Amino acid sequence: MPRIAVIPGDGIGVDVTREAVKVMAAVRDLGVPLQWDEFDYGADKYLATGVTLPDSEIANFRDNYDAIFIGAVGDPRVPDMKHAADILLGLRFKLDLYVNYRPCRLLDESLCPLKGKTPADVNFVVFRENTEGLYAGVGGHLKKGAPDEVAIQTSVNTRKGAERIIRYAFEYAKKNSLTKVCMSDKSNAMRFEGDLWQRVFWAVAKEYPEMEASHWFIDALLMQMVKRPEQFQVIVSCNMFGDIITDMGAQICGGLGLAASGNIHPGRTSLFEPVHGSAPKYAGKDVANPLAAILTVGIMLETLGYPEWNPRLEAVVKDMVKSGNTPRDMGGTLGTKATGDYVVGKLSG
Ligand code: IPM
Ligand code: MG
Repeated sequence: MPRIAVIPGDGIGVDVTREAVKVMAAVRDLGVPLQWDEFDYGADKYLATGVTLPDSEIANFRDNYDAIFIGAVGDPRVPDMKHAADILLGLRFKLDLYVNYRPCRLLDESLCPLKGKTPADVNFVVFRENTEGLYAGVGGHLKKGAPDEVAIQTSVNTRKGAERIIRYAFEYAKKNSLTKVCMSDKSNAMRFEGDLWQRVFWAVAKEYPEMEASHWFIDALLMQMVKRPEQFQVIVSCNMFGDIITDMGAQICGGLGLAASGNIHPGRTSLFEPVHGSAPKYAGKDVANPLAAILTVGIMLETLGYPEWNPRLEAVVKDMVKSGNTPRDMGGTLGTKATGDYVVGKLSG
């Protein structure tokens, strides 16, 4: 029976996770054997105890759970984001969750800010490398606070790291009967990492002759995502660029209120989170949109071996948009709880 560790986290993370858990309960009642436990890691715990997320707990998740669901972390009382980095980046790095899977699927034309684009035009997935690059934490300060201080942040790129995410992107395309894989980097300016990514990408592409492999520099890629999103099926990029691509990808699909993601190491305990942050000023007011968290449950179920639930949940969201039953940030009137109840009603009804 799949076991899930649920971390509501901070701010609206708590609000949206409550609804996501309602949906998990509905799915369980419809026959999927799921079990979950809640964990209170987040700003409150950190401020009260100094504990962010102990390694022993990460080991517990790895050994005793199949998935981790996290709402959001981030709190203005922790300006350096120490606990958020330890929890989110800590899980990504220490569990070696090298695939950050972020689908960008437009569910309804009315949600798209791009003129004339339909769900057929905006339908791609992004694979963001999730364990290296500028996020690796390599660097330091010299003479911190002095007028001539220095800050160095080094981008770490290994052949293994680039190769496994690029290969995952091609394999995903193959399994899903897609034909186009696009890699994005900044190899015209960042010669060393760019050179490695270029060599690895084209070498792996050779193993998939049936695929149309392409490349855009990251600045041009973002332009193309706005101009001709229909050219993309699978995009693969490094950690930093993937972060940027997926916020823009979320926006052209209707905003962060709908963007879901998985941080995956195939076959191991993986982490699932809505792409949005903790939006502290909206916390506890029943206004946050829980649909990103609910769609994240779909991706989690897909990864756990129940792929039929992701399209089922997407279908409910499509139906909500068509019938005008949406949360406030999508133009409707539903509060957080009412949105969760609506989804559960549709699943069970
Ligand atoms: C994301 C977020 C995180 C990231 C932040 C909160 C560290 O923006 O999941 O995209 O940059 O990875
Ligand atoms: Mg981001």
